[in-house]
Amino acid sequence: MTTYDVESGDQVHPGQPVTVDRYTAGARLNHWITAISLVLLALSGLALFTPSLYFLTGLFGGGQWTRTIHPWIGVVLFVSFFGLFVRFWRANLWKAEDGTWMARLRDVIGGHEENLPEVGKYNAGQKVVFWAMSILILVLIVSGFAIWDQYFAQYTTIDQKRWAVLIHAMAAVTIICVWIVHVYAAIWVRGTIGAMTKGQVTGGWAWRHHRKWLRELVSKK
Ligand code: HEM
Repeated sequence: MTTYDVESGDQVHPGQPVTVDRYTAGARLNHWITAISLVLLALSGLALFTPSLYFLTGLFGGGQWTRTIHPWIGVVLFVSFFGLFVRFWRANLWKAEDGTWMARLRDVIGGHEENLPEVGKYNAGQKVVFWAMSILILVLIVSGFAIWDQYFAQYTTIDQKRWAVLIHAMAAVTIICVWIVHVYAAIWVRGTIGAMTKGQVTGGWAWRHHRKWLRELVSKK
């Protein structure tokens, strides 16, 4: 049988209750480094974005330190997200049922999961968030390098830098919104946070939200 999107380490443990391994310790460490980097980037980036938020530079040791440290945290985010990308891209490929799931967003919001198609490891909403993050982080690193004058001033023209500043700020505001959706969904769907803290979910959670994934796991040799 060809597996749908089972990732290495995913495993069902029979018992009371049934538990399911969803993320390895490595994947969780990788995720939380990414998460911390994004929060620090948002705080330091917003501090540089508008004078009304300049007080946030206090968290990083003042204006100069904030300007120095922000791009380096960006490099950490890019590298750590790349690690997540390599782990998760395959399970986030778009499948036929994802279109149906999206078309029934009303049932998603209304909590009528019985009207939704069975989904694999990730639902369509998670996949949209994943690809949005992937594209936005790429845009942020490229536009970020274009305005990192400390090391790369000579590689771009003034006009290109102006465009890069605009694109960088727009991508940053968008990824902060995507991040809010991601965290809200993780809290809203009860039992999800444990996936990224303990690495495990209950069998009931998997049956309810990712049945196709669970079916594959139990039939896995
Ligand atoms: C700081 C607050 C954050 C919290 C509380 C959080 C929580 C979670 C949880 C609970 C999951 C597991 C969801 C599941 O398996 O169904 C998850 C998955 C994931 N998170 Fe986060 N996260 C946070 C920040 C971030 C950031 C900043 C990024 C990237 C920029 C990120 C990227 C991902 C990715 C790629 C996955 C795998 C799911 C997928 O590929 O769609 N997370 N997160």
